Amino acid sequence: MSADSLAARLAADRARVDACLAALFEGRRAPAPRLEAAMRHGLLVGGKRLRPVLVYLAGRALGAADEALDAPAAAVELIHAYSLVHDDLPAMDDDDLRRGQPTVHKAFDEATAILAGDALQCLAFEVLARADHPRLPALIRTLAGAAGRDGMVGGQALDLAAVGGHPDVEALACVHAHKTGALIRAAVRLGALAAVAETDPRVAALERYAAAIGLAFQIHDDVLDVAGDTATLGKTAGADAAHDKPTYPALLGLEGARARAAELVEEAVAALAPLGTAAAPLAELARYMIERDH
Ligand code: IPE
Ligand code: IPE
Ligand code: MG
Ligand code: MG
Ligand code: MG
Repeated sequence: MSADSLAARLAADRARVDACLAALFEGRRAPAPRLEAAMRHGLLVGGKRLRPVLVYLAGRALGAADEALDAPAAAVELIHAYSLVHDDLPAMDDDDLRRGQPTVHKAFDEATAILAGDALQCLAFEVLARADHPRLPALIRTLAGAAGRDGMVGGQALDLAAVGGHPDVEALACVHAHKTGALIRAAVRLGALAAVAETDPRVAALERYAAAIGLAFQIHDDVLDVAGDTATLGKTAGADAAHDKPTYPALLGLEGARARAAELVEEAVAALAPLGTAAAPLAELARYMIERDH
């Protein structure tokens, strides 16, 4: 797939999941309109939608129909959006800018941001649980495991515990694998399980792909925090150093971090071999993960 067709594919899949997400707020009488507005702000404004795109690409590579992928795609983005709302809170990363907008606690208030995150998380599982799919329990287990103590939330706890400390590369990889990698692995697995049973050997190949791009993605996020600018990023550049966060550039230098991310992307692409040409869009997306400027 050329860069142009990747861009077109990304735009089409973003539009697809955006329609599913927007529909969750239409035609209902919200009991708490301010909470609802905060949820919309955290979910619907901006965002690259890379996790939903991974659901679509992984699912299609194994033969799933788009209709079977919509609920898992929306659910994983709902968890991601909630994680960002909470990540930005003063008690966590204390950020004012997200997706080019004031963070939810800035646009509303802290209590509303906490509640909006809570409600986005519940909505994720509601959306997934409503899906009509023969492997629904496995899909729900996948998302729950990736979101909770063994996944993203566990990783956020490790991230906060590491502030001001000096973890080695292995310990930092563990933080990143949990706080960011888990949800990226879940996105790929959700797409795969929407198509085939987990005993299909291509699922294991996709797991290896996802583990490698998950770490590469967060390394590149750390790189952009150093090398990017606030306007392009839509979030405050330099925030990691300002908060004394351990990052890959801090440990390996900017070029060392970039090199490690590139190595991981090549590992990810190699892992796709058992899928043949069906995996070409996933290989393109892996490269995009570390070429993106925001
Ligand atoms: C940012 O994720 C948070 C991390 C896990 C590094 P994204 O870069 O995917 O953020 P959006 O969704 O596009 O805003
Ligand atoms: C966030 O990592 C991971 C999450 C679970 C949200 P970061 O704290 O580095 O993400 P940004 O840089 O604020 O987007
Ligand atoms: Mg953080
Ligand atoms: Mg943050
Ligand atoms: Mg970051």
